[in-house]
Amino acid sequence: MHAVDLIRKKRDGKRLSRQELEFLITGYVQGDIPDYQMAAWSMAVYFQGMEPEEITDLTLIMAQSGDTLDLSGVHGVKIDKHSTGGVGDTTTLVVAPLVASCGIPVAKMSGRGLGHTGGTIDKLESIPGFQVSLEPEEFIAQVNAIGLCLVGQTGQLAPADKLLYALRDVTGTVESIPLIASSIMSKKIAAGADGFVLDVKVGTGAFMKTEEDALELAKTMVKIGQLAGRTTVALVTDMNQPLGRAVGNALEVKEAILTLQGRGPERLTELCLELAVEMLLMAGGSSSQSEARRSVEANLQSGAALQKLRELIEAQGGEGRVVDSPHLLPQAKFTKEILAPQSGYVETLDPMEIGMAAMNLGAGRESKDTIIDLAVGIELQTEIGEQVMEKQVLAKLYANDEHKLEQAAEQTLRAFTFSSAKPTVQPTIYRKITAQEL
Ligand code: URA
Ligand code: CA
Repeated sequence: MHAVDLIRKKRDGKRLSRQELEFLITGYVQGDIPDYQMAAWSMAVYFQGMEPEEITDLTLIMAQSGDTLDLSGVHGVKIDKHSTGGVGDTTTLVVAPLVASCGIPVAKMSGRGLGHTGGTIDKLESIPGFQVSLEPEEFIAQVNAIGLCLVGQTGQLAPADKLLYALRDVTGTVESIPLIASSIMSKKIAAGADGFVLDVKVGTGAFMKTEEDALELAKTMVKIGQLAGRTTVALVTDMNQPLGRAVGNALEVKEAILTLQGRGPERLTELCLELAVEMLLMAGGSSSQSEARRSVEANLQSGAALQKLRELIEAQGGEGRVVDSPHLLPQAKFTKEILAPQSGYVETLDPMEIGMAAMNLGAGRESKDTIIDLAVGIELQTEIGEQVMEKQVLAKLYANDEHKLEQAAEQTLRAFTFSSAKPTVQPTIYRKITAQEL
């Protein structure tokens, strides 16, 4: 087999076989196939697309290109959740303990943040003492003991994807739905769960800018899951404004605690409840949508879900008291209130500007090596569709560097536009995609 023949074949719009994809991907990982040939193949995929079976082959080959997590030691059906990345998206910190409190085991590997979106592992590290690195045996033992474990990525999960993603990043081939879908699903499959609940974000702050593209990505991933024997459901959800009101690591942990106390912002709470419902249904923990909804609501109200977060924190060496006293989380030295320049309705609240402003305050990473400041970030005091008066507080900034505060203040204000008439507010959840409706 020759790489050039496979490039030509894809260029001409034909489907590559499993053996052919294996030749390309393993050859690339081993260094036998050079970057320029993989770049040419990626560009051919960008223009010609891939068949569902072909995307699934690629996904499974990438999933098996390195370490895979064996969760067979965890009792019960293991369901993982994944978000394509948003601003103020604290859902994992709420959904994982909520689902675990309903008796469904959650064995989850999460990532760190990059650019304008945050990562669950960084947020957890703002809890004093919390350990994100566990040996596989400890990880499994903890899930069996308390039903929940959240760790950072260990080992070499899907190294083929890592190489290919870096190559796509510099060759204009990131924006290919088959390549994005296989990239995401290869990492999820390598992390060992039996089923997946996906949160595909759409909007100005998301990877997918249009509902059409988000829907196609969601359908492609659900199809891969089906063909790979993993039940997969996707919710297409709004990212035209930050999901929650907190953006920044310790601030988002505080918001997750509030949400688990039943006092969280409405849109964040609603999405967390619905993601938890889907996980419960998939794991067989409820027989109907309405029964699952009653279970998760009951565990928010009763404090059972919050208690599960406390157990998680304590099991991983952290200070469990933060769930009663969030002021034990890292605190920033300086704060600044951003005031409304005029009266009116909040018409837009650009999540990209908010995410970048938080990143510039030190809450996020510009590059992989940036050291982040866990205490800093932004707390929004309003959202799209709300009426504000001139000089009303729109947001509160938290910083440890006064100079950064001034810049971030201007940037935060740029996220807002105002209108005299009440604007239409997008729903939090647009669509649910299941394998049945593909
Ligand atoms: N996120 C991923 O993990 N992979 C992509 O290709 C794009 C976004
Ligand atoms: Ca995230």
